[in-house]
Amino acid sequence: MKVSALASSLIGSEIIKIGNEVNEMKRKGAQIANLTIGDFDSSIYPIPTELKEGIVAAYHANQTNYPPADGILPLRETIVSILKERYGLEYGTSEILVSGGSRPLIYATYLALIDPGDTVVFPAPSWNNNHYCHLTSANAVAVETDAENNFMPTAAQLKPHLKGATLLALCSPLNPTGTMFTAEQLAEICDVVLEENRSRTADEKPLYLMYDQIYSLLTFGVDHANPVSLRPEIRDYVIFVDGSSKCLAATGVRVGWGFGPADIINRMKALVGHMGAWAPKAEQVAMADYFSQTAVLDKFLEAFKAKIQDSLNALYSGFIDLKSEGFTVDAVQPMGAIYLTIKIDYIGKTTPEGDVLKNSADVNFYLIKEAQAALVPFSAFGNEENMPWFRASVGACTLQDIKDMMPRIKAALSKLK
Ligand SMILES: Cc1ncc(COP(=O)(O)O)c(C=O)c1O
Repeated sequence: MKVSALASSLIGSEIIKIGNEVNEMKRKGAQIANLTIGDFDSSIYPIPTELKEGIVAAYHANQTNYPPADGILPLRETIVSILKERYGLEYGTSEILVSGGSRPLIYATYLALIDPGDTVVFPAPSWNNNHYCHLTSANAVAVETDAENNFMPTAAQLKPHLKGATLLALCSPLNPTGTMFTAEQLAEICDVVLEENRSRTADEKPLYLMYDQIYSLLTFGVDHANPVSLRPEIRDYVIFVDGSSKCLAATGVRVGWGFGPADIINRMKALVGHMGAWAPKAEQVAMADYFSQTAVLDKFLEAFKAKIQDSLNALYSGFIDLKSEGFTVDAVQPMGAIYLTIKIDYIGKTTPEGDVLKNSADVNFYLIKEAQAALVPFSAFGNEENMPWFRASVGACTLQDIKDMMPRIKAALSKLK
C-alpha cells in the first residue's frame, strides 16, 4: 500500500518489541519481572482516590463538552499556583497550555519551532527525541553522555553542537536514567545557550531550550533544578513540558501542561487544537481541584515516592551486591523518576546453548528467557547497540517481584562463559 514518505519511514518502538516478547512468554504461563515499560501497574500504583472521585463527579456534572483550546481556566490558575509554590516560577495563565498528556506538547514544541533541516540537539540516552526529529524532518544531533556524569549532558559536551541549532531538548529527572542535573551543571548549559543567542542577529531564529520536567515531583532527596530559576534571562527561550502522568501514576488520565513565552504557547495552542489533542474536560476539572489541595497532594506524593524508592533501592543494592561478588555489573544511584540505570557487561559471552550474545538486545533477550527479567537496553534510547547499559523501570512490579528476580539474574549470569 502506498503511503506518505513520512508514514513509511516511521521507526517502530524497540520497547514495544521487547514488550511483545514479554507478553508472549506471559501468555505461555511464565512469571516475568517486567521492568520495561515507563508506566505503572494500576493495581500496584493506583491514582489518588480523591482524583478518581473528582473525575467521576465531573462526568456526573456533565463536564463533557469541548474544553477551551488552552485548557480550562481553573486548571491553568491552579498550575500558576503550583509553579509559584513548588518551583518559584512566575507564569501567567496565558503562558500555560494544557493538553492530552505531555506528548502533544513535545510534538507541538517541535512543530512550532522547527523547519525541515533545522538542528535539534539532545542527549543520548534520551526518550523519543529521535522520533520527534523524524516527524518534523529535523537534523537530529544526539550527543553521547557518560556514566561519569550520570548520563546527564554537560555544557562542554553540548557546546560544540549548538552553533546554528534551533532546539536543545533536555529532561531532568531523565528518562531513561533516573538521574538529574545539579544546579551547577544546568546553569553552565544555560550560559552556553545564552552565549549562543547573543551571537545571533534579530533576524535569526534563536536557540530554544525544551525542558521536560515531567518527573520533577518524583525525586528522592535531590533538588530539582530548572533553567529559568537559575538564569531568569533565559526565560524567553525556554518551553517547559510537565504534567500529571507520572507524578500521580495517571498515565491513562491524559492531562499534561506546558509553559513558556505567550507567543510560542499561542502557536502551540493552535497546533494542539488542530490535532484535537486536548485533555478530556472532566479530567481537567478534577485535576484543577486535586492539585489545589496541597496537603492531599503532598500526602499522596510522600507515600507514592517511598514505594517507588523502595523498589529502586532494592534493585540498586541487588546489582551492587552482584558487583561485589565479582559479576561485571554496575548501577547508578537512583535520584528521581521511576528508573534505574544498570550496567550488565556480558556482550561477547556465550550462552550454555553455545550462542554468542552479540549486543545489548541479545543480553536482554537472554535475561528474559533465562531469568524472566525484562529490561530495555540504552540502544532503544539512541545509544550504540554494543553499549552494556540498560534501563529498569519499577512502575509495573512490586518490591517482592524485584527481590524474587535478583537470584534468577545471578543464576542466569553465572551460566555465561
Ligand atoms: C520524559 C518524558 N516526557 C514525557 C512523557 C510523556 O508523558 P505523557 O504520558 O503525559 O504523554 C514521558 C512518558 O514516558 C516521558 O518519559
